[in-house]
Amino acid sequence: MDVRVSIIGTGNVGAATAFGLLSASTVSELVLVDINKKKAEGEAMDLNHGVSFVSPVEVVSGDYSDCKGSRIVIFTAGANQKPGETRLDLAEKNTAILKQAIPELMKHCPDAILLMVANPVDILTYGALKISGLPPRQVIGSGTVLDSSRLRYTLSRHFGVDVRNVHAYIAGEHGDTEVPLWSLANIAGADLEHIDFFGKAPLDRQALFEETKTAAYHIIERKGATYYAIALAVRRICEAILRDEHSVLTISSLIEGDYGIRDVCLSLPSLVCASGRERILDLPLSEQEETLLRHSAGELRKVLSGLGL
Ligand code: 2OP
Repeated sequence: MDVRVSIIGTGNVGAATAFGLLSASTVSELVLVDINKKKAEGEAMDLNHGVSFVSPVEVVSGDYSDCKGSRIVIFTAGANQKPGETRLDLAEKNTAILKQAIPELMKHCPDAILLMVANPVDILTYGALKISGLPPRQVIGSGTVLDSSRLRYTLSRHFGVDVRNVHAYIAGEHGDTEVPLWSLANIAGADLEHIDFFGKAPLDRQALFEETKTAAYHIIERKGATYYAIALAVRRICEAILRDEHSVLTISSLIEGDYGIRDVCLSLPSLVCASGRERILDLPLSEQEETLLRHSAGELRKVLSGLGL
């Protein structure tokens, strides 16, 4: 298995993602790139010392030219939210990093799938798509894959059911305008309203959604950043790509007319496979969910226009 994956940015998220990929034996080579070369070197050295405990993998630090031949380039470089900041507050400074990095990456690995993770991820996914000139299927973002996992976790705790049997999606912006797709949520195929497990308290959808939507803020207040769950979400997306799984994941990608939305990147349940985003699923959403998605798209479009994208 000759699978090279590159990670741009070895801060908390990039380093945790490298650890996640290494510990799951997902790749055979990891290339770590960071403007702080010593940091990237140190992360590579530290990770290589654990290789005897996992499947063979080589972790190297380098620069964009070392990303040549990568199947996936994971982009985590950029400032992260400080307490009180929204993800969209990071748009200007992190887009500037993109404008410098993406042309360099295109020189060395134009065939790689670009997996954007830095925030605001929907804005940066759109920016990477426009700057790279790559086809929409090849430029995706982690989007609300993490948010969907957070919602599934809160529902699994409410119902006392294995989270792997709870199906629920968050769509739209990975941020304050995200949308819970309650019309699709189910356990064992049953709508959540029709489930009375052992007399649990009635489902307070708004409370569980607020817990999901604000999770990052509460974690950032306590530990300064989030990185483990997003790293596992990124690993999940990489697995779907590298194993050509055709998995349903709420990745961020260019929307070209779905639900009346176009010319913006946001998350919708999509099939993810070796070529990236295979397609967005045309699912029966409620009128309210479609309205909220169009609102989310509108808020993202405002930021994009402000950036000249
Ligand atoms: C998160 O949702 C901060 O976007 C990051 O954990």
